[in-house]
Amino acid sequence: MPKVLILYDTRTGNTGRMAHAVAEGARSVGGVEVALKKVGGSLEELVAADGIILGSPTHNTRPSQAMRRLLSNLGTIPLGGKVGAAFGSYGWSGEAPRIIARALRDRGLRVVGEAVRVRKTPNANDLARCRDLGRAVAEALSPIEEEKGG
Ligand SMILES: Cc1cc2nc3c(=O)[nH]c(=O)nc-3n(C[C@H](O)[C@H](O)[C@H](O)COP(=O)(O)O)c2cc1C
Repeated sequence: MPKVLILYDTRTGNTGRMAHAVAEGARSVGGVEVALKKVGGSLEELVAADGIILGSPTHNTRPSQAMRRLLSNLGTIPLGGKVGAAFGSYGWSGEAPRIIARALRDRGLRVVGEAVRVRKTPNANDLARCRDLGRAVAEALSPIEEEKGG
C-alpha cells in the first residue's frame, strides 16, 4: 500500500492543527497508509514513504530549526519520483512553506498543489484547504486513481 508521511513542526499549535487536517484529507482516500509525526525522527521513514508532506511555521523568514535540519539532510537519501507537498502557519511574511516546496522540488519530488499558507490560527476554510492538500497527495498515489487516469 502506498504510504503518505506527514512531518510537521509547531511551537504554538497552529501548524499542528493544519497537520491534523492534512492527515484527515489524506486518510479520506482509500488504499493509502497515512502517518502523522512531529519532525525529528529518523530519515528511514522518508525513504519508506511514497508521499512526503512537510509543515513548518515561519521563524525569522525561514522554516523552523528542526525543519531546516531535515531539509539539509534530504540530500543524503534517494527521493526522486516521490510526491511532495508543503504547508505552514505564519505571522506576517510566511516564507517557510514555499521554501520547503522548493527544497522538495530540488530533490526530485513531484510537488502537488500550492504550498498552503495560513496566517496564525487556521479557520474552517483554512482547514478545508489543508484537507484538500492531503487528499491531493494521497490521490496522486492511490492505485485506484492511477487506474482511472489510465
Ligand atoms: C521566534 C519566532 C520567529 C518568527 N518569525 C516569523 C517570520 O519571520 N515571519 C512570519 O511570518 N512569522 C514569524 N513568526 C510567527 C509564527 O510563524 C506564527 O506565530 C505561526 O502561527 C506559528 O505557528 P505554530 O503555532 O505552528 O508554531 C515567528 C514566531 C516566532 C516564535
